[in-house]
Amino acid sequence: MRQVTVTEHVLLHQTKSPAASGQFTTLLYDLILAAKIIARGVNKAGLLDILGATGEINVQGEQVQKLDELANRTLIHRMERTGVLCAMASEENADLIRIPDKFKRGEYILIFDPLDGSSNIDVNINVGTIFSIHKRISPSDEDVTLADVLQRGTEQVAAGYFLYGSSTMLVYSSGQGVHGFTLDPSVGEFLLSHPDIRIPERGKVYSVNESYYHYWDEPTRRIVNHFKGTDNDRGAPYSLRYVGSLVADFHRNLLNGGIFMYPMDYRIPSKPQGKLRLMCEASPLAFVAEQAGGAAIDGNRRILDIQPGELHERVPLFIGSAKDVAVVSEMYAQARQD
Ligand code: AHG
Ligand code: MN
Ligand code: MN
Repeated sequence: MRQVTVTEHVLLHQTKSPAASGQFTTLLYDLILAAKIIARGVNKAGLLDILGATGEINVQGEQVQKLDELANRTLIHRMERTGVLCAMASEENADLIRIPDKFKRGEYILIFDPLDGSSNIDVNINVGTIFSIHKRISPSDEDVTLADVLQRGTEQVAAGYFLYGSSTMLVYSSGQGVHGFTLDPSVGEFLLSHPDIRIPERGKVYSVNESYYHYWDEPTRRIVNHFKGTDNDRGAPYSLRYVGSLVADFHRNLLNGGIFMYPMDYRIPSKPQGKLRLMCEASPLAFVAEQAGGAAIDGNRRILDIQPGELHERVPLFIGSAKDVAVVSEMYAQARQD
């Protein structure tokens, strides 16, 4: 395949989306540089003293892994000086990350999960970085507010993820389809390897953490049993594939078809919710899924239609092949009528 770089692809093929401004290319270039630095950290983790936890607890109430911190610091350091952002938000930071006065500001907002699948770092299973790009809605001469960031997923200018695995990949969409690039370490460039990714309309795989079965409500149990049973459109059980890194499970299902589910659970009876974050996980991946012909819902609503109320809002997530997600939607709707 002819070598097409990301920059060339944006300039040649993304001309119709608002993202095709030079600013977007600059943003993507700096994001790619940050990802290459993170990939180097991930690939060498076992050799450097960056395995394991830092002993701190983050705003999510989760153990911070050293590589979480390296990825977060790398992204903030690189992106605050890119000159095209007016604010950032990270899964690892409680509040909005403002661009220091000494740096030039732009119109874009970057929201990211610096390292997704942190529990898998020490056991060498794929992890990734998920990102979402919005444009500010307040006037440029005013201070950025949370309202600029808390926008619906439909308003995203672009979204995607880096996958640090057997190869390092970038998969993203700026509203004109989904395109995959693979890092060629010998030249340090991401080269087009998966043009125009389309997710099969029905898969053969379901991804869910079955250990929460006793914490799900009855409709959710019926839905998971639907995929593992024979009374479904395939007439056969779907295979269970769940690695514990959303970005890895999502990527496999995007290419091969399938559905990833992280339902609401009642492990904390007073706080029934999903675990995944709307702004930096569900919304960007929903954008990619829909651009590839798939779907993403919270069980009732389309993820991209949800108006966020707060930065670290969590949401149940059912995402992947359109026909498989449609079954989930129909079964929950039926349960609401019963
Ligand atoms: P993160 O490492 O960014 O906190 O995300 C981990 C998420 C997601 O990647 C994965 O699908 C999910 O946590 C796994 O959760 P369980 O261990 O509860 O199944
Ligand atoms: Mn994550
Ligand atoms: Mn994370």
